[in-house]
Amino acid sequence: MKVLFVASEAAPFIKTGGLADVMGALPKALQALGVEPALVIPLYAGIGEAYRNEMETVYTGSLDLSWRDQYLGVKKLVQDGIPVYFIDNEYYFGRDKLYGFDDDAERFAYFAKAVLAMLHYIDFKPDVIHSNDWHTGMLGAYLKEDFMQDPFYQGLKNIYTIHNLKYQGVFGRQIVEDVLGLPLRLLYNGNIENAGNVNFMKAGMCYADFITTVSPTYAEEITYPYFGEGLEDYVALCAGKISGILNGLDEQEYNPETDMNLPVCFNKTNVFVKKPMAKEALQRELGLTVNREIPVLAMITRLVEAKGLDLVTYIMNELMEEQVQLVVVGTGDEEYADALRELAWRHPGSVSVNILFNEGLARRVYAGADLFLMPSRYEACGLSQMIAMRYGTIPVVRETGGLKDSVKDFDKYNATDGNGLRFANFNAHELLFTIKRGLSYFAEKPFWEKLVINAMESDNSWNRSARAYADLYDKVAGVPVTAEPIPETQIAAVEEEILQAVKGEEITAEAEPVQEHVQQPVINAEAVVENKPEEAEKEPAKKKTAAKKTVKKAAGKTTAKKASAKKTAEPEAAEAAPVKKRAARKTAAKKTAEAKTEAVPAVTDETAAAAAPKKRGRKPGSKNKKKEE
Ligand code: GLC
Repeated sequence: MKVLFVASEAAPFIKTGGLADVMGALPKALQALGVEPALVIPLYAGIGEAYRNEMETVYTGSLDLSWRDQYLGVKKLVQDGIPVYFIDNEYYFGRDKLYGFDDDAERFAYFAKAVLAMLHYIDFKPDVIHSNDWHTGMLGAYLKEDFMQDPFYQGLKNIYTIHNLKYQGVFGRQIVEDVLGLPLRLLYNGNIENAGNVNFMKAGMCYADFITTVSPTYAEEITYPYFGEGLEDYVALCAGKISGILNGLDEQEYNPETDMNLPVCFNKTNVFVKKPMAKEALQRELGLTVNREIPVLAMITRLVEAKGLDLVTYIMNELMEEQVQLVVVGTGDEEYADALRELAWRHPGSVSVNILFNEGLARRVYAGADLFLMPSRYEACGLSQMIAMRYGTIPVVRETGGLKDSVKDFDKYNATDGNGLRFANFNAHELLFTIKRGLSYFAEKPFWEKLVINAMESDNSWNRSARAYADLYDKVAGVPVTAEPIPETQIAAVEEEILQAVKGEEITAEAEPVQEHVQQPVINAEAVVENKPEEAEKEPAKKKTAAKKTVKKAAGKTTAKKASAKKTAEPEAAEAAPVKKRAARKTAAKKTAEAKTEAVPAVTDETAAAAAPKKRGRKPGSKNKKKEE
């Protein structure tokens, strides 16, 4: 199972937020499960010299985007055994920051198209393209409206992950033809449109074979207007192909036992001896009164409304009436920065406000603080609460998205496995009272110590979530993740059966009533290849013979569907040959691994139309390409 991750940023190469952390960690976790991952991001000016020196040039040529003919370079390096590709175009990506330019639509449309075009020139052919957030939203549209005309791309699946629905990539409708080079009908039929504008996020969702978001609670929340950012109705419409999978934490990267940024390292066996030392060091570093008995409250955050800064600034004066210290690290809106600076000015020795981002300082704050505040209005997943827990710092969170899914409330009156403190409403005094509850636990050592250990023992590793993604890829692409290499003879045998069936020579009793397995509208390999799932379903389910439940078991579904597809798709048979090979490989793979086939064809209109093999044989995406020798 080969999966290509496509994103606008990835740690450790370039990072502005949590998306990059996920792109840095998830492929590694999947690799451990037997998935073959690769990653592709733009080659921004900000990507350091050290990485650039490791890169090899894989391809140089050009790519068309509407009437434009742009340079396309592909570079590659290998990080932790994972191939990482970089789309090189100085004009689009040689700029001082990642986002926020007038031509962002053009830059990321180019990126999406470049990723698809590069597949011809790299030695990695994915079964699944896993794209992320709005920057990669047009990829599915290009794949299914354009590139799939080339048999090379047929059968390729696309999973799209929403990390933050607030940023959707919304642009004027005039860009459809002129910039995106896509037909206007995609605006009128709503595939790439929301509220009259071009919407990259909506396009990503529309064309995806399956959508995920980064926590189960967020998946539910975004069906409501409060969280849905105008796409709630469309999210609800996608109910059959969307699920939430909680992000994990890179536990190697974030480990208080080995973290080189810390003055004192610790683990859960010595946390009550060493963490107070880390706390005193932090107090010293930030000019706070050095006293391990004073609880230190921390926030490491972008200073924006969504992170609950209004709640914090509303109660900060009341909060400082308690004997506490407050540390803030982060950048963002000036109104919050000013309010916090002013608080620090009035409370020297008790408040430290650092309007900057510094990874080393952040780690020392995670290690030295006692309570970590995340009163977010919404939080798709959130990573900081997981880091805080691993560093023995107790998160105080609002019950939303991934905060709700990863933090369990501690109740001192019941023996509890709670690992933090939660409050329900986006209300400043609920935050204040929850902090006060935390302070009362801090004062009662047995409770506090239990809470700290619970937090440090929380399982936020990627293992569980990576498994969920691997199962999803398996289901969507119909290839077992841990498949053994399939003997060519076996592929040939299954292929032969398919050909036989296409000739109408053998329609056996293997066409199972697929409907009985229907769970979600996942589109399996055969469905896309043959594009006639309804007909397959109509095929009479004849009596099964036990003897045939061997090799033909897996091949049977393909056989029957192939045969029925023939009724209408005969003229395309020759063009579909490479696809048959691919289908045969998948079918044989399934058999080899004795995997249960669960995926069921339920093809949306757009996907069906897009997947139909077309007569025009042009190689989409680019012209004048030449491979570097
Ligand atoms: C976005 C979300 C955040 C999530 C991250 C990674 O930044 O806002 O909640 O943790 O993506 O998925």
